[in-house]
Amino acid sequence: MRNLLVTGGAGFIGSNFVHHVLAHTDMRVTVLDKLTYAGNRASLVDLPQDRFTFVEGDIANADTVDAVMSTADAVVHYAAESHNDNSLHDPAPFLQTNIVGTYTLLEAARRYSTRFHHVSTDEVYGDLPLEGGERFTEATPYNPSSPYSSTKAGSDMLVRAWVRSFGVQATISNCSNNYGPYQHVEKFIPRQITNIIDGQRPKIYGQGQNIRDWIHADDHSSAVLTILSKGVIGQTYLIGADGELGNRDVVERILAHMGQPDDAFDLVTDRAGHDLRYAIDPSKLRNELDWRPAFGDFDRGLEQTIEWYRANEAWWRPQKAAAEARYAAQGR
Ligand SMILES: NC(=O)c1ccc[n+]([C@@H]2O[C@H](COP(=O)([O-])OP(=O)(O)OC[C@H]3O[C@@H](n4cnc5c(N)ncnc54)[C@H](O)[C@@H]3O)[C@@H](O)[C@H]2O)c1
Repeated sequence: MRNLLVTGGAGFIGSNFVHHVLAHTDMRVTVLDKLTYAGNRASLVDLPQDRFTFVEGDIANADTVDAVMSTADAVVHYAAESHNDNSLHDPAPFLQTNIVGTYTLLEAARRYSTRFHHVSTDEVYGDLPLEGGERFTEATPYNPSSPYSSTKAGSDMLVRAWVRSFGVQATISNCSNNYGPYQHVEKFIPRQITNIIDGQRPKIYGQGQNIRDWIHADDHSSAVLTILSKGVIGQTYLIGADGELGNRDVVERILAHMGQPDDAFDLVTDRAGHDLRYAIDPSKLRNELDWRPAFGDFDRGLEQTIEWYRANEAWWRPQKAAAEARYAAQGR
């Protein structure tokens, strides 16, 4: 594979992936990104210009997609509407991008016989009880809760159908919650860090008991690259790094790393349908493709992430007021 097309490469995980690929391989990367409020061209600076091309465009536009797919050996599909809270207030863009956009890409991959990797989320499986050690596996039935996760579930099903019906050479990965640099300040960890930088108190939904399974975005990238090179066509792989933590615990750790008292947070109204617990069993990826995460230690990754937001205020500052205004309108 020489030429890689990355959709949504100006977003959080996509941009981390682009940096990872350009640093660790000799592939050429073309990013196709619509630059919605979540996309940031400033996440894609200081890259080797002879191996990197940026195309602004919509994955649901067949002509645009055709032009970039025709020169790609493989596509890694990150582009999505990705924020649960937004999906509760306006689901329409989620259907358009996550379903119609994925369909448009699959049709082009079918025409050009392009290797396809679909990036998805563990949220397609719904949630787990807070108590007990149950974890999601590739065999867990789909049971999405929100417009966001249901459109991601729908996109996964399209990929499976295009493999079976049309022979598209695709793999799928479902990953747990990511953290790291270049994440929009509307998301849980960057929101808390930038609130503290701004002298505001972190905000926790409900009682903060909800559990997420955290993985550093760079580990997600290395896992996707592993699946792209060694994954079996038609297979799904769960990506996780044994990072289960309660939301309150995460906020207390951020406060401690930033020199604040561990109770300096506010509890706010919970989100409707807020999933209780996610947990990934990544055995298949580890055993069959021999992948291991590099960030075993969440606190080390968290400290680096805090340092990144401290050092890159110019990157996040333009988004902060609008993100907080959206939360304020929802009482959070
Ligand atoms: N954030 C997580 O913790 C997480 C976990 C597992 C899986 N995922 C999946 O990873 C992918 C990326 O998530 P993220 O957190 O980086 O999202 P993000 O919101 O930060 O980035 C999404 C990117 O897609 C672009 N985009 C949106 N609509 C588009 C369209 N119609 N055409 C072209 N580009 C468009 C945006 O401009 C943005 O750059 C998503 O598919 C998401 O479901 C995310």
